[in-house]
Amino acid sequence: MKGIVLAGGYGTRLYPATFAISKQLLPVYDKPMIYYPISVLMLAGIKDILIISTPNDMPCFQKLLKDGSQFGVKFSYQIQPEPKGIAQAFILGRDFIGNDSVALILGDNIFYGQAFSAMLKRAAHSADNGFSTIFAYPVKDPERFGVIEFDENKKVLSIEEKPAKPKSNYAVTGLYFYDNNVSEYAGTLKMSSRGELEITDLNKIYLNKSRLKVEVFGRGFAWLDTGTHKSLMQAGQYVQTIEENQGIKIACLEEVAYRMGFLSRSDAIKSSQLYNNNEYFEYVRELK
Ligand code: DAU
Repeated sequence: MKGIVLAGGYGTRLYPATFAISKQLLPVYDKPMIYYPISVLMLAGIKDILIISTPNDMPCFQKLLKDGSQFGVKFSYQIQPEPKGIAQAFILGRDFIGNDSVALILGDNIFYGQAFSAMLKRAAHSADNGFSTIFAYPVKDPERFGVIEFDENKKVLSIEEKPAKPKSNYAVTGLYFYDNNVSEYAGTLKMSSRGELEITDLNKIYLNKSRLKVEVFGRGFAWLDTGTHKSLMQAGQYVQTIEENQGIKIACLEEVAYRMGFLSRSDAIKSSQLYNNNEYFEYVRELK
């Protein structure tokens, strides 16, 4: 299975903070934002990852992430000339996807909580067997998101993009698993009224073919927004609280690589040696 991180867009809501740097490179507490979605793909067992970003920002992503071998994975890079919609990732990534199934995660989405790895494994398994999986999260402002309507047995009835009158409070999060048909289906999409190839339209194709699964996150799970200065600050504070209370790091890629068996312990330590005068390195060095 392949993985894509979509890390483009202009980040205008966070100007001037994102005027000269990509939003997805801003720190969320102690590491760049893009580490968090990359860790999700790695936890799903994915080692072949395409980073999609803007022509301006790409050199910074390449400087940060290099070829991926330091995390036991392989990064490829693809420019999105203009932000023409999330579903465009599958058109830009068609050659990269090849004959595989694929997971897409938005570069500004942060997920954290128990039983996540098991959910990811289920989604990867379903994608290899012709199904897509999306992830629903209860929110208080569903009109800002894709919204899923369920019947009483949690069967999906509809998905709508930013509806004025949401039929439920379940938002579609920015993590999607698809089978190998996804690039072909994405190629049939028409631009929406806001000039984008909508991920919601792609999910509707799978829904209409009865090939869409939904995993619902429970109360204890965190899906953190980074779309405003306030929510970005709160996401950082959330990460800080968990890391300080539990003495662990969220989305430390050297650690994820070690725990997933992508790197040996000594190679994980070697990868973080560049930071040998700080506590990030100390953390990796102390991994058990
Ligand atoms: O966060 C989940 C939501 O993401 C879903 O509930 C919605 O169904 C989905 O459409 C999307 O909502 P937004 O319209 O709010 O996404 P936004 O345009 O903010 O883009 C999300 C991220 O993806 C953002 O960091 C920029 C990046 N992006 C977006 C587009 C449209 C790109 O890199 N390229 C693009 O073409």
